[in-house]
Amino acid sequence: MTQLQIADPAALLRWYVDAGIDEAIEDQPIDRYRIASLARDSAAAGPQAAPVRAPLPATARPAPSAALPAGTPLDDGVATARRLAEAAGSLEALRAALAEFDGCALRQTAMNMVFADGNPAAPVMIIGEAPGRDEDRQGKPFVGRSGQLLDRMLAAIGHDRQAEDAAKSVYITNILPWRPPGDRTPTAGEVAACLPFIERHIALVKPRLVLMLGGTAAKALLGRSEGIMRLRGRWHEIPVAGLDAPVPALPTFHPAYLLRSPAEKRAAWRDFLELKSKLEKSS
Ligand code: URA
Repeated sequence: MTQLQIADPAALLRWYVDAGIDEAIEDQPIDRYRIASLARDSAAAGPQAAPVRAPLPATARPAPSAALPAGTPLDDGVATARRLAEAAGSLEALRAALAEFDGCALRQTAMNMVFADGNPAAPVMIIGEAPGRDEDRQGKPFVGRSGQLLDRMLAAIGHDRQAEDAAKSVYITNILPWRPPGDRTPTAGEVAACLPFIERHIALVKPRLVLMLGGTAAKALLGRSEGIMRLRGRWHEIPVAGLDAPVPALPTFHPAYLLRSPAEKRAAWRDFLELKSKLEKSS
């Protein structure tokens, strides 16, 4: 194999693609074009030039301040997320605020931001963990294999994210709007940085009920440390700033887990029937 030089990043990239490596798996992307051009500049400047360093990771860069009032001090990502989210008065404004939020490094490796799907006027808001590969490519939540299972389970209780009648529809989103590299579990820091946005999302949608898919969503929204085995199947409440009353919320298994552990589908089915029954009682 020919030795590839970092000064020829396009050849390196082609070699990666030929070898089947077509996704970034690091948390922090490395801008090899920039390193190569810095190396060229440095070589041109002669032997006294400063050594070339990789660019700073996104988390080391200041968060954007465009949407903040003049004079607002820059701070950690969570505080910035909170200010951006609270300032959003509509779903469109929230989507725009997320799109400019620079406090979660996952956005650097994701292809698309995944905001939501379905009908925001639906009585049920479904909240998963984070987009996977298919969702990242299409920019929509739950469109891969686990999404297809979710759609079948919803159909079995008479709901469809595409239903024209809002009462029969659902609204679907995730705790994180960006895919974690390699579909790894999100870190506590990533969840904390994005939590203000999902809380504001719930406040703006004002769902009658929330269905949480999997432990990451349940633990983040309920502020609990127990796993999904303990939390699922019982109603909890999510206190949401801006809403008069806490929102009843039911944790259940994540469909990706059900695909790996089909024996648990029976318990998940009970949860879906519980959701349907509560919806009928509250309508
Ligand atoms: N898993 C999730 O939690 N969310 C998606 O959107 C897809 C898979």
